[in-house]
Amino acid sequence: MDRALQTAVASRLSRHYQAGTQDLAPAEMTQPTAHYRDPVYTERERDRLLRVMPLVVAHGSELPDPGDFITDTIMGTPVVVVRQSDHSVKAFVNLCRHRGTQLEWDPKGNRRLFRCAYHAWTYERDGALRTIPLQQQGFPCTERGELGLIELPTEERHGIVWVVLTPGASIDVAGHLGAELDAELASWGLHNAVQERIERFDNDFNWKFTIDGFLEGYHLRYLHAKTIGAYFVTPDLALFDQWGVHTRMTLTRKSFEVVADREPDQIDLRTVSIPVYVLFPATVLVWQNDHWELWTSFPHPTDHTRSIARARLMAPSRDCLEAERALWDKNWRILMDTVEQEDWRAASYIQRGLAAAPAELLFGRNEPCLQHFHRTIAQFCGEQH
Ligand code: FES
Ligand SMILES: [Fe+2]
Repeated sequence: MDRALQTAVASRLSRHYQAGTQDLAPAEMTQPTAHYRDPVYTERERDRLLRVMPLVVAHGSELPDPGDFITDTIMGTPVVVVRQSDHSVKAFVNLCRHRGTQLEWDPKGNRRLFRCAYHAWTYERDGALRTIPLQQQGFPCTERGELGLIELPTEERHGIVWVVLTPGASIDVAGHLGAELDAELASWGLHNAVQERIERFDNDFNWKFTIDGFLEGYHLRYLHAKTIGAYFVTPDLALFDQWGVHTRMTLTRKSFEVVADREPDQIDLRTVSIPVYVLFPATVLVWQNDHWELWTSFPHPTDHTRSIARARLMAPSRDCLEAERALWDKNWRILMDTVEQEDWRAASYIQRGLAAAPAELLFGRNEPCLQHFHRTIAQFCGEQH
C-alpha cells in the first residue's frame, strides 16, 4: 500500500474516529434466502461467474521450479497446475485423454513427465501427449498431436495463479481487477509473498457464507467476544471502497487509537488496520498486520448447500517466512478458533435453519461490503435489487 493511499485512507479513518461513525450503505437491503438454498441459483452462479471469471487455484510459491505441480479439484473439475521449463505456469484438466482417469494423483510434487497410472500414456509438462504404449497395435489411427491435455486459461499475477475453468476462454487478470485495484495490489508487493500453508475445508453451508463472514465488522465484538473481538476499535470503525465488482473493507485495530491524533501521513496503516479485499467472485485477501490470509470458497460439486473452502497463510517475503515456526502456528490457531469455531458455526446454523426462515434476511447499512457482494452476484444471476 503506497504512502499516498495510506494517507488518504488514514485521514478518512481519523475523521470517522473523531465522529464515532463509519462508512454506511445508503439503505438496508433484503437478501432472499433462496440465494443460499436454491440449486438453480447456484447453477447460475457457476455458469455466469465461477466458470467464466479468473479463480485463484494456487500460489506461485507452491511451484517454484520447472516441473513442480499441484493438483486440486474445483467445482468438480480436476486441475493440475504445472511450472513450465520457461518458468511460466500452465493449468490443465487433470484427466488422461485415453479413458479419462485422473492423470496425476499426488497433491503436489515434481515431474519430468506425467504418466497415467492406468495404461501408462505419458504427457509432457506442457500437456503434449508424448507416448502411447503399444500404439502400433492398439491405436494405429490415433494422432498423438491431437490428444494433448486440455489446457485451461491461466495467468500468474501478483504471485497468484489464476485460472478460468472454461477451456478456450480468454484470461486477463489485470483487466478483471481493473487498473486501480491491480496497481493497489502491486503496491503491496504481493508478488513477493510466499505461501506458508494451505488447508482445505468441506463445509456444510453455501459457498457464499465463507465470504460473508469477512464482509462486515459488525459481528466482531459479539461473535468473537472471547477470541479477537477486543482487538478492534469500538464503536465499529470501517471503510468501504469498491472497484466495479471488487471491494475493500478496512477494519480498524485497537492500536489505531494510539495514533489517531497524528497527521494522516504519519500513520502506518499496515499495523493499525486490516484491509479485507474481495477479489470477485470467490476470493478474499486479508492483510493481518504481518502476513496475508488468502481464502477461496466454491460450491461443492454436487451439493449446493455445501462448499469447499481453502485457506492460505502467506508471508510478505521469504525472509519473513523464516520467522519462528511458533508464530505461524499461533496465527493459524487464532484463525481456526475464530473462523472455524465461531464464523462457520454461525454459518452452519443459518444454512440448517433456512427452510424454516422467512423468505428474506436483512443486511444493514453498516454491512456495505456484504450488500455489494450479494447485489453484484444478483445482477449477474438475473435479479435486481
Ligand atoms: S486412462 Fe490413461 S492411459 Fe488409459
Ligand atoms: Fe468473523
